[in-house]
Amino acid sequence: MENTPVLTTKRLVLDRLTMADVPEVTRWLSSESVCRNLLHLPHRPPEEYEEMIRRVTEQYDAAEDYFQWAVRENGVCIGRMSLVVNRRHQSGTVAYFLAETAWGKGYMTEILTRVIDFAFDELGLNRIAADHFAENPASGRVMEKSGMKKEGYARQKYCKEGVFHDAVLYAILKSDRSR
Ligand SMILES: CC(C)(COP(=O)(O)OP(=O)(O)OC[C@H]1O[C@@H](n2cnc3c(N)ncnc32)[C@H](O)[C@@H]1OP(=O)(O)O)[C@@H](O)C(=O)NCCC(=O)NCCS
Repeated sequence: MENTPVLTTKRLVLDRLTMADVPEVTRWLSSESVCRNLLHLPHRPPEEYEEMIRRVTEQYDAAEDYFQWAVRENGVCIGRMSLVVNRRHQSGTVAYFLAETAWGKGYMTEILTRVIDFAFDELGLNRIAADHFAENPASGRVMEKSGMKKEGYARQKYCKEGVFHDAVLYAILKSDRSR
């Protein structure tokens, strides 16, 4: 399977990030409300986002099973979706975020549903998991609306910038879809 192939949903396109996306990505990641609930993206100086995107673009043709999509609305990058694959266990883990102006339109549910279908139908995976900070129930709602089931609660699972966060754990199995 090609790394990070183009996927489409009713309203959006998922494709590869490019260096041309740096200004947009920097603009929406400068919002504290976008970064607050992201484990790997604390609020950072703008030049670090350029380096982050450069590293992603370098992996597209170098890594195996590498899925890091730009989310585009009318060609403009409004967010990111990643899928990390573990072939041994036939499983994957997703993580995502959108620019604040794109929230509340059902976009992430549309995207996550598409990526789950891709992971089961085209990658042949068996289980897709995700978790979110307990302080971020909107993300849990996206997981639920996309067919994931709540599996548990991990106390102080993450430490971000010296603060512990409880995590709510979700997953969907291939067999869940046929019920
Ligand atoms: C979380 C995020 C991805 C949601 O994306 P989105 O496109 O706005 O999500 P959707 O519109 O598909 O669905 C959001 C759902 O959460 C609900 N919701 C919003 N705020 C909520 C809150 N404080 N508590 C509970 N539910 C909430 C919405 O009502 C909606 O559910 P509904 O359709 O049943 O009404 C987006 O807000 C985001 O990128 N946030 C910053 C980064 C982030 O948190 N990423 C996830 C890390 S795990």
